[in-house]
Amino acid sequence: MSTAKRKALFICLGNICRSPIAEGVFQKAVNDIGDGDKWEVDSAAIGSWHVGNPPDWRALDTMKKHDVPYNNCARQVTSEDFNHYDFIFGMDEANMRDLSKRAPKGSKAKLLLFGDFDPQGDRIIRDPYYDSDSSGFEKCYQQSVRCSKGFLEQLEKGAIK
Ligand code: 4NP
Repeated sequence: MSTAKRKALFICLGNICRSPIAEGVFQKAVNDIGDGDKWEVDSAAIGSWHVGNPPDWRALDTMKKHDVPYNNCARQVTSEDFNHYDFIFGMDEANMRDLSKRAPKGSKAKLLLFGDFDPQGDRIIRDPYYDSDSSGFEKCYQQSVRCSKGFLEQLEKGAIK
């Protein structure tokens, strides 16, 4: 007997920096606990500027450094996403406002701030796109590791319906 997969979508402004890292890290987190086949995981952008492009090289470098496989390209969020995914995670408050505006009335996805699952309480995953170095990408990776684990623990406990 097969059970329906749980579906998680990670959103940021451009889908080339933060949400690819969050997607890759979350996929690795579920793979590592043997639940890879129980999840469908993707990421998408609020904006259309980078559709079809691979992530920023600093995001790819950061994932490579931490053995996080990644080979997706950017796409923009669609209205269908809000009824396909169970959980849609934004990286900052602007993402959350944009997601709320775009969600069709009554759509099923829970819109969640990823940083709300950080046990260290670092709630915002800041946009590192305009930074002159990679440290913001490393920080995004570390936050994504904590938030993925925190979310999966809360889900397991039944704290998220
Ligand atoms: P992301 O970073 O939202 O973390 O992918 C950005 C990437 C590109 C742009 C903004 C943010 N942009 O304006 O092109």
